[in-house]
Amino acid sequence: MAPRTILEYPDPKLRLPSEPVTVFDDDLARLVDDLLDTVRAHRALALSAPQIDDRRQVAVIDAGDGEGHRVYINPDILRKHGAFGFVQESCLSLPGVSGNVIRDTRIRVRAQDRDGTPFERELVGMEAVCLQHEKDHFAGRLFIDGFSFLRRWQIDAKFRGRAKAAAARPGVPTA
Ligand code: NI
Repeated sequence: MAPRTILEYPDPKLRLPSEPVTVFDDDLARLVDDLLDTVRAHRALALSAPQIDDRRQVAVIDAGDGEGHRVYINPDILRKHGAFGFVQESCLSLPGVSGNVIRDTRIRVRAQDRDGTPFERELVGMEAVCLQHEKDHFAGRLFIDGFSFLRRWQIDAKFRGRAKAAAARPGVPTA
């Protein structure tokens, strides 16, 4: 149980699809604990397993209701209530980048908890936005994908430059 390294753009692993969880065992429990430790270490609202290099459909999201981060395994959006918002998002895999995304702001979700027990929940506001953002990670999608070509080119240049600089520094692991 420890905070794990977060994959950063443009790591191609962030583009791989994730698989539904079918086995609820100790290994899954460790993944959930690592996700919770990592998201708390970064004081972030949400995090998904593929961001710590694990292709299982697990996300943790803080609804801001004082209950801490809730665990969503194999989340499915059952219903969109037709409310939309233009929401400013960011992502631990793209540090320093933020931008507006159109999202549903009220959804009904079915998921499983860490024991495999199914539950349904109405998500509103940022919690709903985070759930959609994390589900995108399961599909290898990032919130910048809908940005303009120019904006993505700028983001690309910034992160590829950073990766190159890290690789050029002797003795510094670049994984
Ligand atoms: Ni993200």
